[in-house]
Amino acid sequence: MHADIVVLPGDGIGPEIIAAALPVLEAVARRHGHDFAFHEHDIGGIAIDRHGQPLPAATLEAAQKADAVLLGAVGGPKWSDPNAKVRPEQGLLAIRKGMGLFANLRPVRPHAAALGASPIKSELLEGVDIMVVRELTGGIYFGDKTRSDTDATDLCRYTVAEVERVVRRAAELARSRRGHLTSVDKANVLETSRLWRDVAARVMREEFPDVAVEHQLVDSMAMHLLSKPRAYDVIVTENMFGDILTDEASMLAGSLGLLPSASLGAGKAGIYEPIHGSAPDIAGKGIANPYATILSAALLLRHSLGLEQEAAAIEAAVDAALHAQAFTADLAAPGRALSTGQAAQAVIDRLGA
Ligand code: IPM
Ligand code: MN
Repeated sequence: MHADIVVLPGDGIGPEIIAAALPVLEAVARRHGHDFAFHEHDIGGIAIDRHGQPLPAATLEAAQKADAVLLGAVGGPKWSDPNAKVRPEQGLLAIRKGMGLFANLRPVRPHAAALGASPIKSELLEGVDIMVVRELTGGIYFGDKTRSDTDATDLCRYTVAEVERVVRRAAELARSRRGHLTSVDKANVLETSRLWRDVAARVMREEFPDVAVEHQLVDSMAMHLLSKPRAYDVIVTENMFGDILTDEASMLAGSLGLLPSASLGAGKAGIYEPIHGSAPDIAGKGIANPYATILSAALLLRHSLGLEQEAAAIEAAVDAALHAQAFTADLAAPGRALSTGQAAQAVIDRLGA
């Protein structure tokens, strides 16, 4: 098949991890007879430098027309002045919103070979397979903000329709997995969370009677995620709770550099990006872990292009590379680390296996 893929390297380690992931996609295309055209555009800090804004119109237009978007990371100290008028992160939020990508899928599957890298006891991690569905275009991220000399506000707002659609997406995933959904909120304090819980409960009762649902408060969820991660199948939650819980969940996998994500809307298009940031401290050194980005490319093949076999081939190759201890510095024993490019090559070498 032919596919147009918009590539947004962004800032920090973004260009390095994207440069590592594209050859993996090219290798898959060659092997399976596909023709992927990559179109590179600016987003984030580099877009501020070159165009004066974090999401240039040309980038959004290209992304809206493409079959899918592969994104590296945005942000860095250069653009972090708290008084700056524009910030790289605004570009990321605007493209998510502009493409209507309300459901952010963040799978967490600790790999046997990397269990030792997790601060959590290995016996708690065996068999963990969680899909977090984070609401991505609502809540406190997108509410009105105010700032004066003496105070500041961020409005948190959710509509019934916004909760319904993301709960439906999560429930469908749960139905295709182990049939269990955990909806996370703070309904003992927040009105938006009481709405969330009411809507989630109704959608599940009326449309998904075959899927078991459980409601959890976010604070206890943060604890249970570490103390009994095997108990969870699909977790659905609002934007900021999902942001925080998935950084926490990355520690189950041993490294923030292993978690991919897919941001999806009503149609087939999506943005695929690692959940980690631009890691300015290690940028330009060629030592970043490319696996989260490569696994995001696999999700792109699955969700936007419908290429399940090809997606599974990449995931199996990453599994095999991890099994062979093909680790970058975040996971490797001292003196044993591969470079970003070597780790990507370890995946390509195992694509046919
Ligand atoms: C993420 C990131 C972003 C978010 C930032 C960079 C705006 O942390 O994708 O999780 O908070 O959504
Ligand atoms: Mn985050």
